[in-house]
Amino acid sequence: MTVTPVSPHAGAKAAAPRRIRKAVFPVAGLGTRFLPATKAMPKEMLTVVDRPVIQHVVDEARAAGIEHFVFVTGRNKSVIEDHFDSQFELEHTLEARGKVKELKALLDDLPGPGQTSFTRQQAPLGLGHAVWCAREIVGDEPFALLLPDMLHHGTTPCLADMIAAYEAHGGNHIAVAPVPEDQTHHYGIVGVEDATAKVSKITSMVEKPPKGTAPSNLHITGRYILEPAIFALIANQERGTGGEIQLTDAMLTLAKTRPFYATRFDGTIYDCGSKTGFLAANVAYAMDRPDIAPILRQDIEAIFKR
Ligand code: G1P
Repeated sequence: MTVTPVSPHAGAKAAAPRRIRKAVFPVAGLGTRFLPATKAMPKEMLTVVDRPVIQHVVDEARAAGIEHFVFVTGRNKSVIEDHFDSQFELEHTLEARGKVKELKALLDDLPGPGQTSFTRQQAPLGLGHAVWCAREIVGDEPFALLLPDMLHHGTTPCLADMIAAYEAHGGNHIAVAPVPEDQTHHYGIVGVEDATAKVSKITSMVEKPPKGTAPSNLHITGRYILEPAIFALIANQERGTGGEIQLTDAMLTLAKTRPFYATRFDGTIYDCGSKTGFLAANVAYAMDRPDIAPILRQDIEAIFKR
């Protein structure tokens, strides 16, 4: 299905785009690929080095200036809520023991009072449905959406690049990156006007195209900026690929009347929904840490010499 590019400045003089203040994190997934680790613990709380996966993604959103963090959770996910709350006993103990650095690090990570919201997706009906569950909390303003499985490891936070593109163009934005041609059927794929540009208009979009039919090798990486009109379109739509309420289908409908842009992400993406992606993320993030990298390198080299 193709998208008709629409000028964001069509018609009357365009108003400056509204600021992106809120980010939605769909964290209701069961994590069956990580059983038994995820039997009693949400997959988003698995650690990449010493931070839960979800904390890395919230870090990316905070670095991009997000002020309100909306988590769409499910049963057995309440520990995520606890993670983003203060922990009085722990803070008190650290203070009493003079562990100033550890206490400061904990407090620095803590979102401010009233900056988090939690709602539940009551049935696993797909990504579109998860996003729709956040509609009352997001309200009538454009918002960011970050899929927590996908860690974007690069020099500038992916969402910060996207917000810059949004401020320049308005409209809706999707982060994209190339994948091998034989992997395109696993993702949402977009076609763009200029595949070499950092920011380009999207010309087509398809969720998990059958092999050999993808419009390009640019996959949707799990970072979005969406206008609030998306919510009504999700509510009206039919079930799509896999019998689920697909976000991509609602975006296709929105793209008939509103512009969509792709921002190319040039770093490395680790899919922490897969075991190998998760393990690779641990190595990559550990290698950024001067306190860990030299010893880990030696340990890994020793493993490969066995
Ligand atoms: C979702 C989106 C897909 C995107 C992917 C990135 O698919 O529907 O467009 O490419 O995330 O991880 P899912 O992985 O939930 O099947």
